[in-house]
Amino acid sequence: MSDKSTDISQDIVWHDHSVDRSMREQVLGQRGCVVWFTGLSGCGKSTVANALDVMLNQQGRATTLLDGDNVRHGLCAPPAVLAGEHGQDFSDRFGLGFGAVDREENIRRIGSVAALMAGAGLITLTAFVSPYRKDRERVRKIVNAAGGDDFIEVFVDTPLEICESRDPKGLYKKARAGEIKNFTGISDPYESPEAPEVRLDGGAGRTIAELAAEVRDYLEKRSRI
Ligand code: ADX
Repeated sequence: MSDKSTDISQDIVWHDHSVDRSMREQVLGQRGCVVWFTGLSGCGKSTVANALDVMLNQQGRATTLLDGDNVRHGLCAPPAVLAGEHGQDFSDRFGLGFGAVDREENIRRIGSVAALMAGAGLITLTAFVSPYRKDRERVRKIVNAAGGDDFIEVFVDTPLEICESRDPKGLYKKARAGEIKNFTGISDPYESPEAPEVRLDGGAGRTIAELAAEVRDYLEKRSRI
């Protein structure tokens, strides 16, 4: 039995399965990990994560990609999306927006899912703003709980002015006009990673392919792929 059983309610008991992580990884011929992209909206994290996903897939690696906008359509849907199917009480309790506590729960759910996917042997790429250091550090702790260094934080460091000038979804414009509250970088904080495993310079005119290759090179250097 894992020592996880001591951390939670005594009525919920952790079961170790017969097929363990190393057996799953052996089938895939790789080790699972979480490559956690973080940065402002429009910094390029989803695009770089997607390009890296393509590179790894073409190399025959088993990967998956969890992306902020997509995950907020399902696992972390907003109250308005849940209300129709589940009713008001449910959507009030479980729907997520962009306040600090909602973001904390968003990252907690995604972190747990990412840890499960890495445990199944997948190279798990994630692309979330994840603006709070504490939330990201909690995920690092969960993913590295087995004693490894499977959490790889990638900071896509793109100046706010550049993200705002790109404004691919027109959200900065709305945030400046006061139409969106709690918008990261405008009316909400972004806490930069202090010691990310990889820092990408997202504002220096480098191509998406170059930035993705930088992460791939890091994974190779660390014998993760
Ligand atoms: S996180 O802060 O909880 O990690 P997440 O990555 O899931 O955020 O979602 C961010 C995406 O939602 C952004 O790329 C943007 O398209 C959209 N978005 C909508 N409202 C906000 C907001 N207030 N702050 C940041 N992003 C927002």
